[in-house]
Amino acid sequence: MTHATAQPRRQTGAATARRTVTLTGVQPTGDLHLGNYVGAIRPLAEIAADPARDVYVFVADLHALNSRPDPAALRERSRRLAAALLACGLDRPNVHLYRQSRVPAVARMAALLSNVAAKGLLNRAHAYKASVAANVAAGRDPDHSVNMGLYSYPLLMAADILALGADEVPVGADQAQHLEIAVDLAQQFSRTYRPGVLREPRALIAEPTATLPGLDGRKMSKSYDNMITLMAEPNVMSKQIRRIVTDSTPPEQPKDPDRCTLIALLRTFADPRTVAAFETRYRTGGVGYGEVKQLLANVIDAHVAPIRNRYHRLLSDPAELDARLAKGEQHARQRADRTLAETMAAMGL
Ligand code: TRP
Repeated sequence: MTHATAQPRRQTGAATARRTVTLTGVQPTGDLHLGNYVGAIRPLAEIAADPARDVYVFVADLHALNSRPDPAALRERSRRLAAALLACGLDRPNVHLYRQSRVPAVARMAALLSNVAAKGLLNRAHAYKASVAANVAAGRDPDHSVNMGLYSYPLLMAADILALGADEVPVGADQAQHLEIAVDLAQQFSRTYRPGVLREPRALIAEPTATLPGLDGRKMSKSYDNMITLMAEPNVMSKQIRRIVTDSTPPEQPKDPDRCTLIALLRTFADPRTVAAFETRYRTGGVGYGEVKQLLANVIDAHVAPIRNRYHRLLSDPAELDARLAKGEQHARQRADRTLAETMAAMGL
């Protein structure tokens, strides 16, 4: 597994006997890229390969609303993300896939937790602080264009996690603070109302080695616009790969494999013998970047072609995809409704 454990967790005898619940959400903000796949989705699929774990994975469509996407676009992206998640190895009996908006207990949990969360706690959240800082720097009102969806984003995320009673939450390093807020709220609730109702989650923070470089050598990320699209057709993908920035060392000269984006990507997708052979040829000289790009395109396509085929098959059968989601949503609702009922009772409702 490619995750480091953030906080140790004490387990009671009873807790050891039950199945571990892993939960994560993905925002439907755009097409998945290879960085999402290697950094988040493939590690999650590896966790899910253990049939003793229950995995809840959801399309965070409520979270996506804070940037006020066009409704038709949001609907379409949510479907595509659901199909992509299934296609990437999450189509298993122990995985429950759902749209966050179809589990009403989550939003109700957020409403309850809003009374537990100190406003100051949310004032300190990174995303909100970044918006305020940008506004102040531009001489605008500090809260200019900040809606309550953005402000209370960590609160809704805590509700996702606590309503489903997650034991562990695999996330990227940028989400560590959100997990701390969820833990904080669970503890606060236990102190104020009743212990044992809201389970304290453990963050599984992705290791930096799970970070893939993008076309320009920086971390592959939507915000840098340097992505290789996961589900792109082979010709589109090889065009993207040809755009990967390399230096101008001529083929015959020796090169340092550790400073080349192509080798970094090759290490992720090619078999170790192929990688070793190219590393040697880099050091001795005699390899051109064009050849490596061609190989890389072939190797990546071999890896993603079965995923892409499953993805297109799922998208071409809307009734089937709806049925899968309905099943996941039913599971998630059952679980969240139970926690919600206990939470309400503890609070006197
Ligand atoms: N905020 C997460 C992200 O942008 C997505 C998310 C929403 C999430 N709710 C969650 C992740 C609950 C884990 C658990 O990546």
